[in-house]
Amino acid sequence: MQDTDVVVMGAGAAGLMCALTAAGRGRRVVLLDHANKAGKKILMSGGGNCNFTNLYTEPANFLSQNPHFCKSALARYTQWDFIALVNKHAVPYHEKKLGQLFCDNKSIDILRLLLDECEAAGVQLLLNTSIEQIEREETSAHGAEGADVIERAKDIEGDGSAGGYRLQTTAGPMRCASLVVATGGLSIPTMGATGFGYQVARQFGHNVLPTRAGLVPFTITDQLKDLCTELTGTSVDCLVSCNGKSFRENILFTHRGLSGPAILQISSYWLPGQAVEINLMPDRDAADWLARQRDDRPNAELKTLLGEVFTKKMATLIAEQWFVSKPIKQYTHAELDQIATRLSAWQVVPAGTEGYRTAEVTLGGVDTREVSSKTMESLKSPGLYFVGEVLDVSGHLGGFNFQWAWASGHAAAQYV
Ligand code: FDA
Repeated sequence: MQDTDVVVMGAGAAGLMCALTAAGRGRRVVLLDHANKAGKKILMSGGGNCNFTNLYTEPANFLSQNPHFCKSALARYTQWDFIALVNKHAVPYHEKKLGQLFCDNKSIDILRLLLDECEAAGVQLLLNTSIEQIEREETSAHGAEGADVIERAKDIEGDGSAGGYRLQTTAGPMRCASLVVATGGLSIPTMGATGFGYQVARQFGHNVLPTRAGLVPFTITDQLKDLCTELTGTSVDCLVSCNGKSFRENILFTHRGLSGPAILQISSYWLPGQAVEINLMPDRDAADWLARQRDDRPNAELKTLLGEVFTKKMATLIAEQWFVSKPIKQYTHAELDQIATRLSAWQVVPAGTEGYRTAEVTLGGVDTREVSSKTMESLKSPGLYFVGEVLDVSGHLGGFNFQWAWASGHAAAQYV
């Protein structure tokens, strides 16, 4: 039986941060992962360059049924704290756009710095290790064997009421005073994602809010499919809106439907059956623009005029498929109004999303109303902590999800 102060389950972004910080405080930390490598999602993130934080991180960049929950941890470990760590390891980076910080080289730079910090602090990393069973030890139900760890748990928590946790793992039995669930969400199962964290939460009496894929492309099955297929690879600057939220960024047509940053962002707010509104001309008033074209260039065909706003191919396709292209003077006022509405408020009802297979995050998860926002400790089972994506906190696209992993992992590490 291995006795330790802290077992962190999941060697992803949040687990690594929690482990290195807790070990830095002198805790004996075991970090377990069932995968053969730590931080696989860090490696694949940001298109291989890891968008590791965002200069403009604010609580408003996060979705949760309990929007105040993330504030405390984000305020206590900020983007500037993580940037200081990146600078300490001399990892080169740049701002790509909108405050998004990416590695100049590869994502491995971020993983390596976390692993180096873990090693320096003495974290014991066990890969290819699965957890088979978890039991809570109550102080009263202890044999002599458990006394030590419980004494340590009392020291840590100070109230004499804490128990500990006994784990059966494929690396043997373990006992710890604090158990940290950092097993992430359901996105990208091929990278090791499982619902294990939710299972542990339920085992200890927690409510798990329904989960769904977020930051994910839309699939399209109706007649729009042809348009998407023909325009595959075309990217357009748009304002995309749904359920009172709007994002101004590019949309990307793909052979399956719609993707690109604006679509990924809005997908986190979209619910099945709803329409997404796309303004294809966010910098102009489409009705005014069409009226001016009719006055200035009455003989110009609609597709020619649209070709000055969109790519020639896109202009021709939408002019012919949506409106029947002809010289602009031949449209009635009502027809021009319809064209303007279509261009500025195109209503798209996605068939669905690509799901967890390609989603960057999982929305929903462990209900934060049953977790301390200060310590990340369970309010149901002392000594149990939840950090990172397993919680019902999901960030916008742009480095916010890693910042949440760093901040929540760091918060828990102060108390484990
Ligand atoms: P994470 O998923 O990182 O780690 C969980 C760990 O637990 C994994 O190592 C897994 O193997 C392990 N695990 C799971 N089940 C287990 C079990 N039963 N037993 C043992 N171990 C288990 N965010 C961002 O801010 N910037 C970006 O650039 C990107 N890019 C990006 C690209 C892609 C393709 C994806 C899928 C996601 C992103 N993200 C992102 C999101 C970001 O990767 C994500 O929010 C964080 O990795 C979440 O960190 P966690 O540590 O909570 O989970």
